[in-house]
Amino acid sequence: MAATDTNLQENQGSHESRVFAPSAEFVAKATISGMPAYEKLCAEAAADYEGFWARLARENLDWQKPFTTTLDESDAPFYKWFADGQLNASYNCLDRNLTNGNADKTAIIFEADDGQSTRATYRELHERVCKFANGLRSRGIQKGDRVIIYMSMSIEAVAAMQACARIGATHSVVFGGFSAKSLHERIIDAGAVAVITADEQRRGGKSLPLKAIVDEALALGGCETIRNVIVYQRTGGNIDFTEGLDVWLHELVAKQPAECEPEWVGAEHPLFILYTSGSTGTPKGVQHSTGGYLLWCALTMKWTFDIKPDDVFWCTADIGWVTGHSYITYGPLLVGGTEIVFEGIPTFPNAGRFWDTIAKHKVSIFYTAPTAIRSLIKAADVDPSVHPKNYDLSSLRLLGSVGEPINPEAWMWYYNNVGGGRCPVVDTFWQTETGGHMITPLPGATPMVPGSCTLPLPGIMAAIVDEAGADVANGQGGILVVKRPWPSMIRTIWNNPERFKASYFPDELGGKYYLAGDGAIRNSDTTYFTITGRIDDVLNVSGHRMGTMEIESALVANPLVAEAAVVGRPDETTGESICAFVVLKQARPTGEEAKKLATELRNWVAKEIGPIAKPKEIRFGDNLPKTRSGKIMRRLLRVLAKGETITQDISTLENPAILDQLKEAS
Ligand code: WTA
Repeated sequence: MAATDTNLQENQGSHESRVFAPSAEFVAKATISGMPAYEKLCAEAAADYEGFWARLARENLDWQKPFTTTLDESDAPFYKWFADGQLNASYNCLDRNLTNGNADKTAIIFEADDGQSTRATYRELHERVCKFANGLRSRGIQKGDRVIIYMSMSIEAVAAMQACARIGATHSVVFGGFSAKSLHERIIDAGAVAVITADEQRRGGKSLPLKAIVDEALALGGCETIRNVIVYQRTGGNIDFTEGLDVWLHELVAKQPAECEPEWVGAEHPLFILYTSGSTGTPKGVQHSTGGYLLWCALTMKWTFDIKPDDVFWCTADIGWVTGHSYITYGPLLVGGTEIVFEGIPTFPNAGRFWDTIAKHKVSIFYTAPTAIRSLIKAADVDPSVHPKNYDLSSLRLLGSVGEPINPEAWMWYYNNVGGGRCPVVDTFWQTETGGHMITPLPGATPMVPGSCTLPLPGIMAAIVDEAGADVANGQGGILVVKRPWPSMIRTIWNNPERFKASYFPDELGGKYYLAGDGAIRNSDTTYFTITGRIDDVLNVSGHRMGTMEIESALVANPLVAEAAVVGRPDETTGESICAFVVLKQARPTGEEAKKLATELRNWVAKEIGPIAKPKEIRFGDNLPKTRSGKIMRRLLRVLAKGETITQDISTLENPAILDQLKEAS
């Protein structure tokens, strides 16, 4: 395992004792109504694991060719689900809503950055996706090809993903905040044949480049596989256009037929690759299946979000992250829901934007990240006019949280001030690799405890073990694992099956348990899970996942830098923030010089990876704390970053004098 110095000892979980049961009214109408209903599903899974999943897969998805095998473990840990079945993701999201009474129902309400909104019904979205898919086919893009999507939030971005799925092309969405270099890395690793982008994106009243960054990425070389760059005109801003390679989306789709026969693919066909950070090396391309993945998207919409026909669902994530894949592009459409697709940011035109938008569109299910909640708490403290109490939030009936631990204070504020004390809060623990929710309260069943993601969903065999893979007792911290494969799990790391095995099914745990990479603890009384944080060198800043190694590599790529070590430190708003310790090739800078160089390096990291990876603080030293064998002692750096005094054993430290120098900013 990558975990050399884990933080299991640093955090033993919450001691929260407040319990909030869902209201009788909510329970009565819920899809999973009451704990006995939850327990019954768990028992069904325990009694006949494959039968349980097979039943759900038949009930929740439309299969062009029914599957006859459920789980194939013959090549473990490369598990296969429903492998001989055939289906199409876009057909399941769109076509079946044309014949079940949803055709004229609003599928997407697009809320633009400037507050304008437009709508698309299922019929309209189907037509747009079909034309888009035909356009892709007309440019020679076909089943098995990889297509990079580098777009901001729009109906077109959802349509782009759906269009790829319709023709069996595997999409790989790259978050619009990533740099040209990050984009380039992903284009190369995926061996993509096309990029779908927009001229520019709108954020907080500003236009920011997208197409220009694609140009820059392609200019870095080695992208000869890219034969098409398809450009959605969002702002009309000036961009360079290369005849033959670049094509406007509106021109591409103009003459395409409004029907497009879906490409039926095997259930294991890779629907998408999504790059995410690990503790070592470059970002890994998490590969997801079609059948198993879609099953879990649909089911968790029903189970966790309890979605009903007249709900208005809003997930505030970006399609560049897994949350946007599962709970914007696929989940809500699979179940015939109405959803908001939001282009803007929570603080524009002011920090009441979320509450205003909920009131405007009568949102009933709202799903966001703890960082957003914490920053809006602060904003409402500063400017009481943007406090949620000033908005009509009576349409809300369910709240959700995702991406990072939610601290009990933020949970309480969310529950009381946004949910009016009547909406259950589902604190959903999951990962890019898990495809959908894993551990979460069920809103019409589970009594909630602020800060705890409570219990695994039915069929998810989550457990806590020690470093040798043995179960630990409740009340004791350990390593979070999943003991049995489940349908929506990661299939492999694109181009790197060995890394897949080593990262997620390490020999130390017997090669059979899925290793989540998080520490967790179960409460002795309630058996509830609390996630205690990553046990590897992965940081979570504002719910964005980043590897310390990636940031270190970016820093040392700067000609001024000799060595760098990056650690996370707790941050009131963003959960964690990035603190970098840097040794320059020149003498250690101080004062103004240090400030200037720190700014330069922060901007450098933004250019190398993206602005989200900028260290909040950079400290310069003549050296870094190391053991005699030259290993950087990150655990000491974590203490220094927090501004705490080192009380740990430092007998293995080669150069104790360095600690004083790194105590504070130069
Ligand atoms: C963290 C986001 C505590 C965790 C869906 C995990 C959470 C990583 C929660 C995955 C939660 C996510 N409580 N921690 N409810 N949800 N995490 O891949 O450390 O971007 O391993 O997927 O976020 O981040 P990822």
